Amino acid sequence: MCGIIGIIGDKQVSPILVEGLKRLEYRGYDSSGIATIANNNIQRCRAEGKLVNLENKLKQSNLSGNIGIGHTRWATHGEPTENNAHPHATSNVAVVHNGIIENYKEIKEELEKAQCKFNSDTDTEVIVHLINHNLNQGMKAQEAVNAALDRLEGAYAVAIIFSDEELMIGARQGTPLAIGYGDNQMFLASDSYALAPLTRKISFLEDGDRVFLTKSEVTIYDEQGNITQRPIRITAQSGATTGKGEYKHFMLKEIYEQPAVIGDTLNSFIHPSTGHISIPKEILHSLENAPRITMVACGTAFYACMVAKYWFEQIAKIHCEIDIASEFRYRESPMPEDGVALFVSQSGETLDTLEALRYCRKQNQKIISIVNTIESTIERESDYVLHTLAGPEIGVASTKAFTTQLTTLACIALALSKRKGAIDTAKEAELAEALRHIPKQAAKILNHDNEILQIAKQVSDVKDMLYMGRSMMYPIAMEGALKLKEISYIHAEGYAAGELKHGPIALIDETVPIVVLAPNDYLFDKIASNIQEIVARGGKVIMFSDKKGVSSLKEYSRWSIEIGNIHPFVAPILYAIPVQLLSYHIAAVKGTDIDQPRNLAKSVTVE
Ligand code: F6R
Repeated sequence: MCGIIGIIGDKQVSPILVEGLKRLEYRGYDSSGIATIANNNIQRCRAEGKLVNLENKLKQSNLSGNIGIGHTRWATHGEPTENNAHPHATSNVAVVHNGIIENYKEIKEELEKAQCKFNSDTDTEVIVHLINHNLNQGMKAQEAVNAALDRLEGAYAVAIIFSDEELMIGARQGTPLAIGYGDNQMFLASDSYALAPLTRKISFLEDGDRVFLTKSEVTIYDEQGNITQRPIRITAQSGATTGKGEYKHFMLKEIYEQPAVIGDTLNSFIHPSTGHISIPKEILHSLENAPRITMVACGTAFYACMVAKYWFEQIAKIHCEIDIASEFRYRESPMPEDGVALFVSQSGETLDTLEALRYCRKQNQKIISIVNTIESTIERESDYVLHTLAGPEIGVASTKAFTTQLTTLACIALALSKRKGAIDTAKEAELAEALRHIPKQAAKILNHDNEILQIAKQVSDVKDMLYMGRSMMYPIAMEGALKLKEISYIHAEGYAAGELKHGPIALIDETVPIVVLAPNDYLFDKIASNIQEIVARGGKVIMFSDKKGVSSLKEYSRWSIEIGNIHPFVAPILYAIPVQLLSYHIAAVKGTDIDQPRNLAKSVTVE
């Protein structure tokens, strides 16, 4: 959620902090700020809203100093105002924080009794005042921070600087924090992506670690207070800046990148000599022998798991459970011996998914993860990892990460079906061929962009919208509704088409468009009946189907888009694309902030 960066070195840090915050803005963008140390004084500049507001303020009051911290915020406690923006500071100490301090009220009351004056509504400010109070009691910086952090309950990553010390302190409890090793300068940041332009040498703190940095030395203490080492690795992250190119929004660029990145992801699974889909054998072995496979994720990544359940059960004949991480992690689900838990995440940092993973680890499950962001915490804590090769996804609404997650899960399902003998060689060849055609078919679907825009123009002022589909189109309907809600702020719900008459059909009237995902598959006749039920109640159908589907149901659809003949195996991957385009164009017509929609953050590192 919030992004943290800290630098201690021999150069002016203010512009470098801002550049780092630009790479962290995906984590939160409701306010931002930096603090530096100059002539034993803490200088601070903070601004409400996007980072550009901070940049403009800094033009008037550039901060000097070789030590500094920066923060981009996603509000938890306290509104997104300048006053609540980080860094929080007294004249002695400044702190940036990502996470939630659960016992802050109790500490605040105690500090207020000791005449501490609070200036914000945040939980973070208690950290500042605790440290400050300890310093005033005569403790040295290290001791003051240790005593303060020992009081905290909850999750945090912090970076702390002092007016009178050539020192920066970091700590991690449940929320990621990376160290960067430079030449006469050291760094802290929420992720290796932010550090990549500054240094290739990084290490990651583990939970309970505290780190003390000067410009030339790094000392890490573990949870027990013993000096420890964390492996230093050369980051594989690119330091290059990702731009929008000729596109108006990152989201549109990322939608258009799908033929290429799905192709890259597929190629990583195509065996170079046989041309078969191949998945590392240890992964297949664990999955094949597991008495139960449990797939866990959040949001869009969960919908990828929902589709995968159809593939695993219908094609590979393997039973699998799917769950949203925020529910699973607290349900204390009993897990079988030799079970496998599979986690799907774009960021690899989603806290609920990570905690679900840790629960499964305690239950002795083999941990497999599918992640997009390299060097993430979920990757580091997994037994086996498969990377989606979507590249950096900057738009908050997930698009190319979703279709590459689906591609990866489809490849696993196919390789597993073959290994288990659930399909014969001819079927395997047919399904592999369907996978190989995806990039070409995805590119063709993008040609419908303008038609979809014309529909968007006619429905952009609606209050509600429904999405429906059957079988693997059901999760895509849910994903379509989520995408629309996120970026256009229109209320939308996705339903299994067969479920409509059990309640949601009451919502239908001429003001509610219904997006129907209706590939001409074995359930087409069923969905055709559902469409007629909608039309009979005045509903306006936006239908996505193939040639046969469109021609047989044209008279019932207010709008229809014919997206080519697609093999049912890969239909969920390809039908996701027009649905993304529809949401994008509706939001663009409405003029919302598509890449950074209100209230959202790309990486959800708090509960
Ligand atoms: C929706 C979206 C979210 C994420 C969810 C999980 O467009 O992006 O629903 O899918 O927050 O995030 P990751 O995949 O990073 O674990």
